[in-house]
Amino acid sequence: MIPASEAALDLHDYLRMHETKDLLRFITCGSVDDGKSTLIGRLLHDSKLLFDDQLAALETDSQRHGTQNGQIDFALLVDGLAAEREQGITIDVAYRFFGTEKRKFIVADCPGHEQYTRNMATGASTADLAVVLVDARKGLLTQTRRHSYIVSLLGIRKVLLAVNKMDLMDYRHDVFAAIEADYRELATQLGIKEVQCIPLSALLGENVMRRSSVMGWYAGPSLLEHLENVGIDRDVRDIGFRLPVQWVNRPNQNFRGFAGSIVSGSVAVGDEIVALPSGRRSQVASIVAFDGDLQRAGEGQAVTLTLADEIDISRGDVLCAARQPAEVADQFASHVLWMDDAPLLPGRPYWLKIGTRTLSATVTEIKHKVDVNTQERLAAKRLQLNEVGYCNLNLDQPIAFEPYAHNKALGGFILIDRQTNATVACGTIDFALRRASNIHWHSLEIDRHARSASKGQAPLCLWFTGLSGSGKSTIANLVDRRLHALGYHSYILDGDNVRHGLNKDLGFTAEDRVENIRRVAEVAKLMADAGLIVLVSFISPFRAERRMARELFAAGEFAEVFIDTPIEVCERRDAKGLYAKARAGQIRNFTGIDSPYELPEHADFHLRNADVAADALAQQLVDQVVERIGHGKA
Ligand code: ADX
Repeated sequence: MIPASEAALDLHDYLRMHETKDLLRFITCGSVDDGKSTLIGRLLHDSKLLFDDQLAALETDSQRHGTQNGQIDFALLVDGLAAEREQGITIDVAYRFFGTEKRKFIVADCPGHEQYTRNMATGASTADLAVVLVDARKGLLTQTRRHSYIVSLLGIRKVLLAVNKMDLMDYRHDVFAAIEADYRELATQLGIKEVQCIPLSALLGENVMRRSSVMGWYAGPSLLEHLENVGIDRDVRDIGFRLPVQWVNRPNQNFRGFAGSIVSGSVAVGDEIVALPSGRRSQVASIVAFDGDLQRAGEGQAVTLTLADEIDISRGDVLCAARQPAEVADQFASHVLWMDDAPLLPGRPYWLKIGTRTLSATVTEIKHKVDVNTQERLAAKRLQLNEVGYCNLNLDQPIAFEPYAHNKALGGFILIDRQTNATVACGTIDFALRRASNIHWHSLEIDRHARSASKGQAPLCLWFTGLSGSGKSTIANLVDRRLHALGYHSYILDGDNVRHGLNKDLGFTAEDRVENIRRVAEVAKLMADAGLIVLVSFISPFRAERRMARELFAAGEFAEVFIDTPIEVCERRDAKGLYAKARAGQIRNFTGIDSPYELPEHADFHLRNADVAADALAQQLVDQVVERIGHGKA
């Protein structure tokens, strides 16, 4: 990664300047076979390669950082501009820069292999237009439909359909007309409003830079002409002033500023603003920009605001025009484009990053997945790599947001895996499912402390995890008996039992196990609230869900107990005969055989249960637990 050197900052400003001038960002969709590289190569070669002074800056920068042996390193440029880098996505998108007398261009060129969807989503997130290439000999292919679907999903409203290789079809009008008709139908289905179809030959340069003379029947612009003249209305809706706070700038006692980029509307000194989600109000006292104070600032500008009152605002809050505030909610209907090899599992917590805010989120339900080739809606329990689902999303806190269709910055999000920190999805908010303010928490008149105090104990959840047949239930029962004998109030939640009642609708697929653990963790939490010591005995094979369970409890009220029994030992014992069945292929998804068990990394108690009597292990555990929760009963 390149440090934010001064040169990079200059570059950033430079780009911003051009952006406000006249810069078209576009993406090309299609494969090498469609002639994509030929087309881009021709555009770059035949136009004045730009940006001259910017290239000079790059050259010096490349020398300094030397990542490409003194060659120009375009990654430097991309670093200065791409939000996705900031979000930690590493992708294979090449940004190329060129220009003509009329306009400057940035084209996101996405290589088309397996990870294409992910690359494309990244390239498309900032694009104004998509060039969709088709081969005149083949017409619309599955991939054309797929790419166009993603283009529409990410809110690109303009498409240039380049019908390439017309030379191989004798420049026939009827061939072009048929493809154009097919594509217009698709575009209508997808809600893509503005489509320009151009017949061309990238190889021979017909209709690429200049209008071709060999297709007299075509009266429209050449590809470059269209790129030069298409309107760059960024399709921004006037939703009022919005500034997601990037950081709170407090260099000394007298100055407290809220810094960030304005993603919509404008703000002036004296304006009434409201900070969301808290709802606290104040007036703008000053607007500080890079080169001095301003009276007014607008969309795209990075500024620091100071306010008339000392109100509590932190990173991730959104400052809004008080008369036109954003909505606040914690549940959403959204489209999710899954980009990880491991599937999306409903119920599993992920980090969600939206605007400048990061918080925990789960997909509570996949309403349907979309066949991106046919737009058909299909039932789904999980989302696989490159699949798109329409999902209900639940956040652990309310946020200020805008539907993606109104504002990309406040309606677009990414999901991050909490273990690996990899970006696993991008998504768009459609609408809020419930206003957070409509669902209240009732505080109970007798609080949890009173409840546990009357039992003379502190509440605790002992979470037993381990393979099937590892001895979890046996040890948990022995512990329960001892605690009971000592006068403690305890209760066991056991996988085998709970699966006969509360969770009888769940099987052993990964997504069902996630839901199994989610439910039992919630129940354990209620029991701890009631003042009990809860012993939970479930295989709970995934780290993510054990962590989720832990996070439901206050510090010190949850302890993970790993019953560490080698699988050979479990299999030899095979009390329920399940290992034999699993080996014989009669049971699928069996933990340790064809379904993973993720070893605990930080178990509070690690009990090795190979050649020690269960009784001794239980005694050990009880001693330590009693030590922890106090000897009140002894
Ligand atoms: S968990 O993975 O979702 O936590 P849970 O503890 O509820 O599993 O249930 C595990 C019990 O279900 C095992 O002890 C075993 O008796 C039974 N079982 C049946 N099929 C399977 C399977 N495919 N994998 C693991 N356990 C199974």
